[in-house]
Amino acid sequence: MKYLFLVFLMNLLSQYAGKPLRRGGSYPKSFEDIKNEIAGYTDIAKAIIDLAVHGKAQNRSYERLAVFADTIGPRLSGSKNLDAAIKYMFSALQKDGLENVHLEPVKVPHWERGEEFAMMLEPRNQSIAILGLGNSVATPPEGITAEVIVVTSFDELHKRSQEAKGKIVVYNEPFISYGETVQYRVRGAVEAAKVGAVASLIRSITSFSIHSPHTGGQSYQPDVPQIPTACISVEDAEMMSRMSLRGTKIVVHLKMGAKTYPDSPSFNTVAEIVGSKYPEQENISNFDIVMESDEGTFKPSGLGFTGSAKAREIVKEIMTLLLPINATDVYDNADGTDIDYWMRDGVPGASLHNDISKYFWFHHSQGDMMTVQDPNQMNLCAAVWTVVSYVIADMEEMLPR
Ligand SMILES: *[C@@H]1O[C@H](CO)[C@@H](O)[C@H](O)[C@H]1NC(C)=O
Ligand SMILES: *[C@@H]1O[C@H](CO)[C@@H](O)[C@H](O)[C@H]1NC(C)=O
Ligand SMILES: *[C@@H]1O[C@H](CO)[C@@H](O)[C@H](O)[C@H]1NC(C)=O
Ligand SMILES: *[C@@H]1O[C@H](CO)[C@@H](O)[C@H](O)[C@H]1NC(C)=O
Repeated sequence: MKYLFLVFLMNLLSQYAGKPLRRGGSYPKSFEDIKNEIAGYTDIAKAIIDLAVHGKAQNRSYERLAVFADTIGPRLSGSKNLDAAIKYMFSALQKDGLENVHLEPVKVPHWERGEEFAMMLEPRNQSIAILGLGNSVATPPEGITAEVIVVTSFDELHKRSQEAKGKIVVYNEPFISYGETVQYRVRGAVEAAKVGAVASLIRSITSFSIHSPHTGGQSYQPDVPQIPTACISVEDAEMMSRMSLRGTKIVVHLKMGAKTYPDSPSFNTVAEIVGSKYPEQENISNFDIVMESDEGTFKPSGLGFTGSAKAREIVKEIMTLLLPINATDVYDNADGTDIDYWMRDGVPGASLHNDISKYFWFHHSQGDMMTVQDPNQMNLCAAVWTVVSYVIADMEEMLPR
């Protein structure tokens, strides 16, 4: 969903950016001069905020995202949907009048979920909602039928390792935080395989559930057998946990038809300020900043920023322009898997900070659809992105490294 923002943003930019990108004059400026320069953007920032929040761009990012998401749907790397998404963005960016929009061929690993289902056979028949975890191997064509062992932690798994052999491990780990609890998704299959399990099912990483599995990536280790793995709902994990504490025998039949293609042809959409995922193809000295919005577009409070102390002071000053919408905070560290490459190479980075209290309710689930989005909150996010990128692109000096 994040790239659509850029379309919106660039459309706004094209209405405002009168001046060409410029790097001239006598430098470096003092911080006092930079502060004054930034204060000079107050009216432009207000105009952008008005346009995005109250004016003719109101709800534009929501509406564009809706067309995009409804038309194209989910788009894993290397998939046909992603191909369609890239073509869509390519033409949308061109229509918006951006310069230098082009595609760069890349090879990416492509994983296909395939058909999949799980059925509890004992103590009673009950369909179990699953979503295969990214990169999971398939089950044999006839599926796997095995007894279940339910554990609440890796520690418990290790203590009961003798019991786990030949079984399906069900992790019913409590949700602490995404960062901590996601370990069960990422290495649940490896830990289960190490003790001889035939498959693993992970309680979805979420604090709230209406019987929806939440998928995500997982990794195998070279020296550990690869076993099929999927996520299940919080409700089913808790039910199996209760059954197992009562001493009830649980048997599950699991069938997954996943496939991995290591080197699928694909494309990157590249535009003037979007950049490329492959820094070696670009002169990154010319990039002011890379920005990513990968944790929802709810009510924004500011940005996370990664860069030098001097650049941080400047960004803090720029964020004061967002006082009319209370999104002035600058937090430590930008994060985003798409901007990591550049930040590692020294390009300053920013990521949107917004109210993520409900983000993981929907994250990576079938429920992550337009219904979750609030047009008013998206307007605020659009204003944050647009003001920040406009000002940084227009200032006389580049952000210091
Ligand atoms: C934007 O969305 C809000 C919330 O759905 C709605 O109240 C408002 O009328 C919409 N504005 C426009 C211009 O469509
Ligand atoms: C449970 O499901 C299995 C497999 O589909 C089926 O063979 C069996 O008859 C079902 N048992 C009951 C009690 O419905
Ligand atoms: C990259 O850009 C910087 C700043 O514009 C310039 O000084 C440098 O020579 C460029 N490097 C290459 C390899 O083009
Ligand atoms: C900004 O925050 C202040 C203090 O919490 C509040 O009074 C004000 O209504 C907020 N303004 C907006 C636009 O959210």
